[in-house]
Amino acid sequence: MAVMALMTAITSTQAAAVPIVHAPLARRGLPKSPSSDPFYDPPAGFESSKPGTILRQRKINVAFFGLIPDPVESYQLLYRTTAINGSAIATVTTVFKPTNAKKDRFVSSKRHMTAQPRSQLILQAYLLLGYVVASPDYEGPDAAFGPGRLAGTGVLDGMRAISSFSTLGFNTKTPQIVGTGYSGGAIATGWAASLQPSYASELDIKGWAQGGTPANLTGTLVYIDDTLFSGFIPPPAYGALINPVLDRIITDNGRSALNKAKATCAPGDLINFPEKSILSTDFQTLGRGLLYEPTIRSILQKNTMGVTKSETPAAPVFVYHATYDEIIPYANTSTLVDSWCDYGADVKFTTYGAGGHITTEVIALPEVIKFVEAAFAGTTDKGCTRNTELGSILNPLALGADLEPILIKLVEVLAKAGTGDSDIKKNLTVLEDVVTWH
Ligand SMILES: *[C@@H]1O[C@H](CO)[C@@H](O)[C@H](O)[C@H]1NC(C)=O
Ligand SMILES: *[C@@H]1O[C@H](CO)[C@@H](O)[C@H](O)[C@H]1NC(C)=O
Ligand SMILES: *[C@@H]1O[C@H](CO)[C@@H](O)[C@H](O)[C@H]1NC(C)=O
Ligand SMILES: *[C@@H]1O[C@H](CO)[C@@H](O)[C@H](O)[C@H]1NC(C)=O
Repeated sequence: MAVMALMTAITSTQAAAVPIVHAPLARRGLPKSPSSDPFYDPPAGFESSKPGTILRQRKINVAFFGLIPDPVESYQLLYRTTAINGSAIATVTTVFKPTNAKKDRFVSSKRHMTAQPRSQLILQAYLLLGYVVASPDYEGPDAAFGPGRLAGTGVLDGMRAISSFSTLGFNTKTPQIVGTGYSGGAIATGWAASLQPSYASELDIKGWAQGGTPANLTGTLVYIDDTLFSGFIPPPAYGALINPVLDRIITDNGRSALNKAKATCAPGDLINFPEKSILSTDFQTLGRGLLYEPTIRSILQKNTMGVTKSETPAAPVFVYHATYDEIIPYANTSTLVDSWCDYGADVKFTTYGAGGHITTEVIALPEVIKFVEAAFAGTTDKGCTRNTELGSILNPLALGADLEPILIKLVEVLAKAGTGDSDIKKNLTVLEDVVTWH
């Protein structure tokens, strides 16, 4: 259970199906849930297609509530990728094309479910800047496990699908790409960055931006255990790997907490077993020994970035993290940056000294966008740099007048979260409020 709870905490995004994620954008014209929607059924024989092959496509209607003045075309692509057990599966990415889109590039923005409004505002910022934006969303039946490598190759296959989607009108077969993601989205992004040189070297990746990165799953588990945030609920689909272990070790208390959590809340919700240690023998008989149980240990170790030199990003990376991030430990990201730098990567690492996990995603946005633009322009620094930002204020004009309405909305998100997420730490209801905002 510890692992499940943890994995939901940090990968809540991957568990999200398209309709949930898009709900705040537009309720009308939404796709049905994946289970009842034939769009999600891959056509017979799809297994023999190459990873990244488009299997189905459709136009969808997404409303942007006036923040984007001109129409945005939106499409969903079902594409072939690979499950954790190596078998072929189909998954979905959504792509948005603004009027006057740049024709030779796109941004891939991996969102996370617990941050719908923030993710959508950030997506809209890229659209206003004239980028086609790919938003990889549903990651297939294994998603709930938080298998970082699978999330990474899923993102890379999604980039392949977008690159070959002729409706977008790219003027090249290999559009330039910058991939971004925060929190759960940074798992997918960090692994995509790590695996791209070996898995998808044909893609023209110009850079990666990842923030609040769960770089080390063991570290994250230890860090959030016994805090408010251990109350993240295990996802419903926790599947074949963990179930047998769980059945062997879960206590009656653990089982009842788990059942209660499953009965009352959607994945990604909070507060079902707050301030209880999921590494305690009250929840499962192994206590902290859970970390050394062979199945669990191997899952955790496979989900640590920066361990293998051959998995070093080839394109420049912007890594950013709050010193006082209360969900994902800063130390593990710092360790990741050291490894990548030792292995020769180009990394800009910015430490945010004033924010928490939620606020830093917002406060860092102007820097992320500047990095994305520099990466496309090929003007990012070579080698490794580290700097610290102490401010906690978002200037609504930081990205120019066109993006001001979006930044003003993000300033509202910051106000709700309080300085350094203080309101969120005091009262999780505020987080849900921020999460389901509008
Ligand atoms: C592999 O995983 C997929 C997705 O979870 C599942 O549908 C399939 O049955 C699995 N295949 C095998 C051989 O276990
Ligand atoms: C990951 O975190 C664990 C627990 O905090 C630590 O023991 C381990 O050394 C870390 N792994 C890496 C590769 O940094
Ligand atoms: C990873 O994070 C955990 C939790 O904060 C910490 O105990 C551990 O020392 C960190 N390990 C590394 C190698 O960064
Ligand atoms: C948390 O905030 C909500 C909404 O603002 C409020 O209704 C609730 O009473 C607060 N709970 C605590 C414990 O402060």
